[in-house]
Amino acid sequence: MTFDSPHSEPDPESATDLHVAVIMDGNGRWATNRGWPRLVGHRKGAERVREMTAACPSLGIRYLTLYAFSTENWKRSTEEVLGLMSLFARYIKREAGRMNREGVRLRFIGDRSRLDRKLRDLCDWVEAETAQNTRVFLSVAINYGGRDEIARATRALARDVAEGTLSPEDVTDGVISRYLDTSFLPDPDLVVRTSGETRVSNFLLWQAAYSEYVFTPVLWPDFTPETMQTILASFKARERRFGGVVT
Ligand code: IPE
Ligand code: IPE
Ligand code: MG
Repeated sequence: MTFDSPHSEPDPESATDLHVAVIMDGNGRWATNRGWPRLVGHRKGAERVREMTAACPSLGIRYLTLYAFSTENWKRSTEEVLGLMSLFARYIKREAGRMNREGVRLRFIGDRSRLDRKLRDLCDWVEAETAQNTRVFLSVAINYGGRDEIARATRALARDVAEGTLSPEDVTDGVISRYLDTSFLPDPDLVVRTSGETRVSNFLLWQAAYSEYVFTPVLWPDFTPETMQTILASFKARERRFGGVVT
């Protein structure tokens, strides 16, 4: 299987509508290991995002959700935070045309209100610009935290109850899912974390209730479509039981 042609059709042997979510970790260490500033690692990581998105159809991935900046990442140096924010803006501007050519619909999850006005406008712009695409659904989590998302959803839900448009008896898990940032997405089948850390770091706490997890030592800037293909092969060999018994 080759990954360099964005227009290659899905391989019928492996074509599915998988939702894969990735905690893209290890950019800083990748750069530090080479004696380079951390931002160089983030830039390399952004290239990997472009490659991975292009490879999704041949990998059988319909939904790709990427953790780019957590609600906790504001603790980093101003230089790193600003560098990441300008990297997001540059990525949106540079990649919008390519995403349209490749049929990628880009949406963001997370609390946008804390982002600066220019970046917020760019997020809105690229969402509208790619809204007609249906080949790959790319979601990028910026200023995203699972607990923050649940708190924001709960506030919205409580407001609707207070206004009488929702009754407490009607609050099911399906209703809660519709209040979350990911209301337009199926739950992830697989969550991958790179860089050898084996924690969730506040990612998709509600949505990943029955996801499979794969933790790989590969640092995100070294993570290629081939790495993903190997991970998917091991994921497909797993037996997902969802609490039941396999007969
Ligand atoms: C992940 O890489 C990207 C972001 C969190 C923005 P890190 O920047 O966390 O890299 P390490 O974990 O320090 O190596
Ligand atoms: C998780 O990585 C967040 C992103 C990949 C955006 P971190 O590097 O921020 O997580 P911790 O600090 O190791 O838990
Ligand atoms: Mg990290």
